[in-house]
Amino acid sequence: MPIQPKAKYGVIGNPVGHSRSPLIHRAFAEQTGIALEYTAILAPLDGFVSAVSQFRIAGGRGLNVTVPFKAEAFALCQKRSERAQRAGAVNTLIFPADVRGDVFGDNTDGVGLLRDLAFHHIPLQGKKILLLGAGGASRGVLAPLLAEHPACLLIANRREKTATALTADFIDLAHNTQLQACALNDIPAEPFDLIINATSASLSDEHLPLPDSLIATNTVVYDMAYGNQPTIFMRWASAHGARAIDGLGMLVEQAAESFYLWHGVRPETQTVRPILRCR
Ligand code: ATR
Repeated sequence: MPIQPKAKYGVIGNPVGHSRSPLIHRAFAEQTGIALEYTAILAPLDGFVSAVSQFRIAGGRGLNVTVPFKAEAFALCQKRSERAQRAGAVNTLIFPADVRGDVFGDNTDGVGLLRDLAFHHIPLQGKKILLLGAGGASRGVLAPLLAEHPACLLIANRREKTATALTADFIDLAHNTQLQACALNDIPAEPFDLIINATSASLSDEHLPLPDSLIATNTVVYDMAYGNQPTIFMRWASAHGARAIDGLGMLVEQAAESFYLWHGVRPETQTVRPILRCR
């Protein structure tokens, strides 16, 4: 019998060389016994659509999408999940076997964050949350955060207008939550239970000018970014006594959800986390 080629999957971005997604998906494939090929694809900044179409022609069946293409991926889809529609961004593309068939887009970032917060035993219901940033990353996690009914969710952004627009888009989901917006340099100087950094400042190692009084004894800070060392934001929080967590767990959990969408099997994530820490 001829050997069937492995189904093709990958992560597409620019830059993409640093991505740990290939490592994660290969670990999931090994764990579940599913034969697949998963590679990192560097698309030119002005060449996302043609890189996707080349991948499909070569037999690709699914892509994870990372910076800066999540909005373009959203636009490329003929069909989208409700959570992708809400987020206005797509991080998971599913291609049918027929290259002319409809592309389906989903967004697993919000689920990824919520599962990682649960993994770290961080409660959200009735809590005071500060969300830093009002870009695609914040948009992707707002609906699942609000579904946990925090008492207050304040979105703070460098450009206040973007944060205000975001609250307007999600106010219908804020049933038991005081959803508010402010400028990054205008955050009330009082402690929060959870501070989530969804800005891209950590990627360029930029310090966010935040008052130290945002942190109290029980404050947890969560940086969606990750690296070999704690980010500058995590270092600031730790220095003031907060528990600081990076976004590697969120990456693993969103990957598990994408894997489930593609293969119908939910991989176990706990054993994959330590593998990534060793790299
Ligand atoms: P992503 O998809 O990662 O969210 P994005 O949509 O470009 O990327 O959004 C980046 C977010 O990080 C924005 O909220 C941006 O603030 P502005 O809207 O004011 O530009 C925020 N951001 C990026 N660099 C920052 C910095 N050095 N200080 C504060 N906020 C920063």
